[in-house]
Formats: sequence, structure tokens, C-alpha cells
Amino acid sequence: MSATPKSVDPNNLEALWMPFTANRQFKRKPRMLARAEGMYYYTPDNRQVLDATSGLWCVNAGHSRKPIVEAVQKQVATLDYAPGFQMGHPVSFEFAARLQALLPGDLNHVFFTNSGSESVDTAIKMALAYHKAKGESQRVRFIGRERGYHGVGFGGISVGGIAPNRKQFGLQLPYVDHLPHTHDIARNNYVKGQPEHGAELADRLEAILTLHDPSTVAAVIVEPVAGSTGVLVPPKGYLEKLRAITKKHGILLIFDEVISGFGRLGTNFAADRFNVEPDLMTVAKGITNGTVPMGAVFASKAIHEAFMQGPDNVIEFFHGYTYSGHPLACAAGMATLDVYRDEGLFERAASLETYWQDAIHSLKGTKHVIDLRNIGLMAGIELESRPGAPGARAYDALVDCFEAGVLIRVTGDIVAMSPPLIVEKPQIDRMVDTLATALKRAA
Ligand SMILES: Cc1ncc(COP(=O)(O)O)c(C=O)c1O
Repeated sequence: MSATPKSVDPNNLEALWMPFTANRQFKRKPRMLARAEGMYYYTPDNRQVLDATSGLWCVNAGHSRKPIVEAVQKQVATLDYAPGFQMGHPVSFEFAARLQALLPGDLNHVFFTNSGSESVDTAIKMALAYHKAKGESQRVRFIGRERGYHGVGFGGISVGGIAPNRKQFGLQLPYVDHLPHTHDIARNNYVKGQPEHGAELADRLEAILTLHDPSTVAAVIVEPVAGSTGVLVPPKGYLEKLRAITKKHGILLIFDEVISGFGRLGTNFAADRFNVEPDLMTVAKGITNGTVPMGAVFASKAIHEAFMQGPDNVIEFFHGYTYSGHPLACAAGMATLDVYRDEGLFERAASLETYWQDAIHSLKGTKHVIDLRNIGLMAGIELESRPGAPGARAYDALVDCFEAGVLIRVTGDIVAMSPPLIVEKPQIDRMVDTLATALKRAA
């Protein structure tokens, strides 16, 4: 290899293989974000774009927040990297302790990862190893849910319930089954908050367990609110039932709170909002406000204790990442928690919820809209698909909104909105008005 690089054309878009993107379509007409501040992105030609999606559900405190920027700058100049295997560094212990103080119920240990996908795969391995440590190594099955998104690792796509994320690869974890999803717009149309109908769908878990023998099941994993597949809010009583059934059979309950954690629902976690305590919780995204990649698994005291039984000179969990508890991520995370606390952002999300709900539901009757749903500061706006072209209508709305200066997110023909928790009421109005205009224009 020559030490002198070939001359590089900065406008060459070919080298980058973009994730979850129609690469050729995008590269024909790119949409670029060059910088960000507060509620706004800016394009390379300095056009302001209002962020109605917190980046990808992660920038809960708004963009380029000074205390977070400064904490990362200071940390990189102090300790850029330190190994986390058999060595420690103070910021990772401190950040874990700060997180511990936020956790509900019996959750009290923190295992760091670098993403939501890694958190899910870590939780799956923790569940398997936990049961093995308890002498129940036959517990190898996992129950996920249709329309669940748990990232893109092999564990995550196996317990996940999104067909396109699975069918390209053929191979998945064995011994996985799925609960039915809870989306039912025939019975729960235009619902504000939690739907009335659907708690009985949790009873399907009993039937699945009977089929497989409950003593072979390690864990049930669900997003308390399914985010990526279009904001599916749990029916009243549904999560409580999952908790009761799993507890009865000695099965762990994993909440994937990669989206619902860190204030999105106006509480620390969805577990707090719904008052249902899981045994394991996976998080990422809002843990560092999206600034430095990081994820974590929160484990209950009982799970942690089960690992701590053997000789104390033996590694208890043969798992970890080079960057588990990376100093920059921990510094970003602590500064993020400071901003959340000092600005009361979770309470702010709670206090804006009714305004947000009313604004979203004002879209009822808008062309193409067939359902609206919301909880906390998140909303799903479901559109009727254009005949023969599923997803096309929502994609057109995304492009139109972006050109009009608002960033939304779409999945199939569902628009999802989840603004940073610093959003102001006029900005909420602008998000909703811009979408309404785009929908009126959409074919
Ligand atoms: C619930 C849930 N789990 C896991 C993931 C995967 O996270 P990552 O993209 O950081 O791997 C996501 C990402 O959106 C998510 O929403």
C-alpha cells in the first residue's frame, strides 16, 4: 500500500455503503445533514431542518449540547481509552453508579455495550448463562413478538419480528417463538395513550409456553412500546400480564428500552411509566444523547448474584467488548444525565404530553391518515398505502417534509415522530403542520 493516498473527491458518494438505505435511490438525490444545534439540523448549504425524530430516537436533550460537548472534549484529553477487561477506569464505575441510582425495582447492575443491538445480544447471553448457573441449562428458548425490533445482531433479528430484517439471511438462532403483535386499528383506532383492547393477547404466551414446555424457556423479550415498527403502545394491562405469566414460570422478562428509556415517555424508563419491572433491561441511544455510541444492559440483583457464586478468581461472564464502558461514552453519558436532571427534561416531556397528543390528533381527517397514536413524546401516524406501492406514500412525505425543513421518520407507511425533549410548542405545531401539508400534496 502506498503511504500517499490517491486524491479523494469529497463529493464521491460511491465508497460508502449506507445502512438501512436504498443506496442507489439516495445517491441520485442525497439528503445531507452537516451540523446540528438544539432542535435543528443544518444542511451543507446551511438550510435549517427541524428535528422531529431526535436523530434516530436518541438525541433526547437536543443537539450539540455544550455540557456534553465539553465533557467529551475534556475526557479525550485526559484518558482517551483504557481496557475494560481486568483493568478499570474511574469514569465507567462512576457512570454505572449514576445509572444504578435511576433504575427501577431490583435492577441494580450495569453492563456496558456500544449499541442497542449489542445490548440485546448481551441480554440474551446473560439470560442463558443465568439459567445455566441456576442449574437449569435446559432453558434455551426465547419468546419475542411480531413487529418487535431488537437490533440487527443474530440474537436481535431472531427474537425480533420484522420479516425483511430476517428473510435476507436465512440463518437465525434456533428455539425462538413469537407472541402476536398488539397492533389492532380495527378495535383501537385513534387512541390517545394506552389502548383499551388487547391485554388478552398476552394470554397467548401461556399457549406458546404450553407448546414448548415452560421449563425450556429462558426469557420473553419485548419493547414496552414498539418504536421502530410504528409506535405501538401496549394495551392496558398487557405488560402486567406478561410479567405475571413469566414470573409464574421462572422465565425472565426483558424490556428492550433502547427507545423508550431516558425520558421518552416522561419517566426514566417505560418500566416506571407502566409500573412493570423486568428482570433485564436493554438501553442505548438516549444514554449518551446519541453523541458517543453506547448501550447497556441493566440486570436485577438476583441475576447478578447467580453469576457471583463460583471461585472468585474465575471470570463470571465470558462476554464483553473492547469498548465496553469507553471513557468518552461514559463522560458523554454522565454529562447527558446532568442535562436531563438540571433541565428537568423528563418532567418536561411529561408536561408536554397533552399538547403533543392534541397536536398529533389534529391530523385526524387529513388526507391518507388512517390512524394516530401517541404516548410520551412519541407518535405514530399511519397512512393508507398507495395501491401497489407500499411505503411509497410515506417516503414521499419524508422527502417533502425534508424539503420544507422538517425531519420525520418513516417505516413502511407509518410516520413516526419523537422530537427532542427540549421541543417548544410552536415547533410541535410546525412539525404537525408541515406533515399535514405534505400529506395533502402526496399522491
Ligand atoms: C428497541 C430497539 N432495540 C434495539 C435497537 C438497536 O439499536 P442499535 O441500532 O443501536 O444497534 C433499536 C434501534 O432502533 C431499538 O429501537
